[in-house]
Amino acid sequence: MILVIGATGTTGGAAVRELLERGAPVRGLTRSEERAEELRALGAEAAVGDLDDPLSLMGALRGVERMYLVSQPGERQAEQEQNAVSAAEQAGVYHVVKLGELGQSQSSPLRFARQHAAATEALQGSSLRWTVLLSNAMMQNVLAAAPTIVDGQYLSSLEDARVAHVDARDVAAVAARALSEEGHENCTYTLTGPEALSDADLATALSDVLRRPVEHVRLSDEQVAAALRTAGVPEWNVEGLVELWRDVYRTGAASAVTADVEALLGRPPTSFRQFAADHRDAFTG
Ligand SMILES: NC(=O)c1ccc[n+]([C@@H]2O[C@H](COP(=O)([O-])OP(=O)(O)OC[C@H]3O[C@@H](n4cnc5c(N)ncnc54)[C@H](OP(=O)(O)O)[C@@H]3O)[C@@H](O)[C@H]2O)c1
Repeated sequence: MILVIGATGTTGGAAVRELLERGAPVRGLTRSEERAEELRALGAEAAVGDLDDPLSLMGALRGVERMYLVSQPGERQAEQEQNAVSAAEQAGVYHVVKLGELGQSQSSPLRFARQHAAATEALQGSSLRWTVLLSNAMMQNVLAAAPTIVDGQYLSSLEDARVAHVDARDVAAVAARALSEEGHENCTYTLTGPEALSDADLATALSDVLRRPVEHVRLSDEQVAAALRTAGVPEWNVEGLVELWRDVYRTGAASAVTADVEALLGRPPTSFRQFAADHRDAFTG
């Protein structure tokens, strides 16, 4: 049995679907009974539990051999993932695949990167076999901007910086391979898309695919942060996102393209144009 933590989210949900397609036995964890029903409707088992409640994880881990660990960014993320690692060790899990992020390090100026590095260190220091997926920015982040893209504008604060965005479905496909095949234990993979694109390039690709103009409109960090606060994003995360744009994306540190997705999946990573075409409905309104 494979337990997917974060099974109702973007990457965890895609991993559940990939694993089901491969015929693997999958159980998804969620905090919500309603979301558990949605997982069961997909054909997965479901367990209700909370990373903040280690005892609730023990039932979810019964009979589990491998676990995909995806959680939400936040100031307690490392602690929450450490809870999952300890529970997995106690439950006799063999192998954990952890979703981390590009450039993660305990000495990073980025709060998100430090949280991931602390959780990864706990996993690598445990008795568990591990695989770490270091993901670049995901194309699915652009879906959050869909309402303004529908109106013909892609708003961002990124200027000309290029980022090698990766499709979350490719991250999930890599996770599914690592969880269902031998040979990925104690490996780290760095996952990117096929090319580095600026936000103006993303707007051009959206215009081409949607066959109507989508203009890139540059906002200041303060304007984007204010919009995130209005949308209810917690202050710790808003500041973390500003750090990411300023200290990583704008420096070009996320622009390198790696070969890992193609080497693992045997096909090139999904392009942004393909992603946009696959999500045409979301951008059309
Ligand atoms: N987006 C990017 O560009 C990017 C790039 C690199 C790495 N990452 C990493 O990807 C991860 C986020 O993945 P995602 O986008 O798939 O997340 P997401 O769509 O926001 O989903 C978050 C998932 O976490 C679960 N969750 C949250 N708090 C929980 C708790 N206390 N106990 C149990 N489950 C909990 C949620 O489940 P329920 O609500 O159903 O309980 C949900 O399934 C983060 O670690 C982030 O750093 C993202």
